[in-house]
Amino acid sequence: MKKKILSLLLSMAMVSVLFAGCGGKEDTAPQGDAQQEEQTDDSAGGDTITIGFAQVGHESDWRTASTKSCQDVFSAENGYDLQFVDCDNDSAKQLEAVRNFVEQGVDYIIIDPIVSTGWNTVLTECEDAGIPVIVIDRTIDDSDKYISWVGSNFKTEGLACGEWLKAYAAQKGIEEINALVIEGSTGASATLGRTEGFKEIADREGWNILDSQSGDFTQDGGQEVMESYIKSYEGQFNVVICQNDNEAFGAMDAMKAAGVKYGVDGDVILVSFDACTAGLEYVMSGDINADFECNPLAAPFVEEVIKTLESGGTPEKEVYMEEHWFVNEDIIPSIEVNGESQDMTVVTQDIVDAQY
Ligand code: AHR
Repeated sequence: MKKKILSLLLSMAMVSVLFAGCGGKEDTAPQGDAQQEEQTDDSAGGDTITIGFAQVGHESDWRTASTKSCQDVFSAENGYDLQFVDCDNDSAKQLEAVRNFVEQGVDYIIIDPIVSTGWNTVLTECEDAGIPVIVIDRTIDDSDKYISWVGSNFKTEGLACGEWLKAYAAQKGIEEINALVIEGSTGASATLGRTEGFKEIADREGWNILDSQSGDFTQDGGQEVMESYIKSYEGQFNVVICQNDNEAFGAMDAMKAAGVKYGVDGDVILVSFDACTAGLEYVMSGDINADFECNPLAAPFVEEVIKTLESGGTPEKEVYMEEHWFVNEDIIPSIEVNGESQDMTVVTQDIVDAQY
């Protein structure tokens, strides 16, 4: 990669993205085959692109799919040298990984930020070194010194969950909602957005949120929090909201062990986020009532950003992943979120088979 030229282009691109506006848009996946061929031609030219990727960790099925997406797209075969660091959910380790990438002089840095704050200094260091940073999945809220962000609207996911629960409770004649929330990792924008979105609907509808604690986006965390909830709130709750599928798997284990009946035939409505394959299998079997997708396959869009930069263009500042909302029962065809009608999709085996 022509580093000096890129350094210049980077400064120009950073200035122009500031003026390009940040209106989010939903995107569709770049065409795989055409993209692949074009990339092969590039690599035949002999320029390997070095990318440092500071990944959150390995806490969930979602994370595994996100890592695989990057490794598949940024492969040696496709002309990339991917330096991958699993930061094990440790923010200090993640900052250190980014600084090491700067030291190595990689061509691009991809960051999935564990927490949304504390980024300005290290992003300034990347900028000073002329290395473009692309943020994926979670957001950075205290600095705009990155080229593009590719990810999900977590608040919309939380709002969708709340709007669906309102419609579902009305259909089932449930008059009172007493909810327990198992949050994701503290300080992660995925946690903050989902919590904010759901709380907005809960406050509007006058629901009771009995408790809201972090399960750290892990199965063990979900199980532990659910076990303690069962001790504290036995017989008092009729909804459990898990902020990812792995937490839901742990919560199911805890409820099963305690004899609490959940899911479409149970006493407790169980809701989850991510909609990974295993999550959708549980929606299909009726153990999870609804699952709000978070799409982990960002890498093809990141590659588009890199290609745009390589050809001297200005990429979009924000790219939103396309996402769907999944249910077991065919009783609520759609919900209204942010003033727009959104479909609720009943899970079938074909949908499960096609999922990440
Ligand atoms: O940031 C995305 C979240 O992080 C996913 O919902 C969760 O599974 C992951 O660990």
